Amino acid sequence: MPVGIFDSGLGGLTVHQEIVKTLPDLPLSYLGDSAHAPYGVRDADDIFRLTCKATERLWDEGCDLVILACNTASAVALKRMQETWLPKDKRVLGVFVPMIEAVTERGWGDNSPPREVGVKQVALFATPATVASRAFQRELAFRAIGVDIEAQPCAGLVDAMEANDMDLANVLVNGHVDALLRRMPNPQAAVLGCTHYPMMRAAFQEALGPKVKVYLQGNIVADSLAYYLDRHPDMKGAAGASRFLTTGDPINVSLAATKFLGRPMTFEKA
Ligand code: DGL
Repeated sequence: MPVGIFDSGLGGLTVHQEIVKTLPDLPLSYLGDSAHAPYGVRDADDIFRLTCKATERLWDEGCDLVILACNTASAVALKRMQETWLPKDKRVLGVFVPMIEAVTERGWGDNSPPREVGVKQVALFATPATVASRAFQRELAFRAIGVDIEAQPCAGLVDAMEANDMDLANVLVNGHVDALLRRMPNPQAAVLGCTHYPMMRAAFQEALGPKVKVYLQGNIVADSLAYYLDRHPDMKGAAGASRFLTTGDPINVSLAATKFLGRPMTFEKA
């Protein structure tokens, strides 16, 4: 029984590769919904419908546990899925809460009351839908007090990355960082709240300057998954091969993924 990893496209591969490093024996089935990417410009009902459909496809692969390695789906659809849709024998986890637990210096699953934390000014870079959901602010307020968040919707960045246009992606990162720094000149931390963005980490760090601590999700999600599986060993499948599925054209997606990760990747039609 593999664990399912879902993203709208290629971005979840940045989470997948960290999970493989942390849990090398865990079989994984990856599904990228490239036929419908990007999600970040869609409305909430659309994102909910597409995320449920993709999750059902991963159930067909035997994945009783699915990780939404997509902040847009985690921010916009996850709560509604858990409250209104998910059968009792299935689990869906998002990538948002582990990131917030890391920024607020908490142990995984620590639900104690909000408290003061070291970081006071946080810059959030995410898709327009994630920013509009205000899920980051909501989840952070459950855990920390006295933290200012300035969020920048990074329009166009996922499209440029899915198209492997890294020159355009670099220009967009600089423009989005400039826009944020005009509103919050001295953030202490920056959260890359889209799983595509770790591939642009160097550009974000350079534009933000060396004093800003940039948080990436891959390793944080991998560690929190390891912790979750220790407590829920029934969700841990026996060793097996990983599969990569796409709703898009497998040849084009394999080429794009190979460029994205810098190593050979083969996708199959979902
Ligand atoms: N990787 C997705 C995320 O983390 C990208 C969203 C999109 O498709 O716009 O939000």
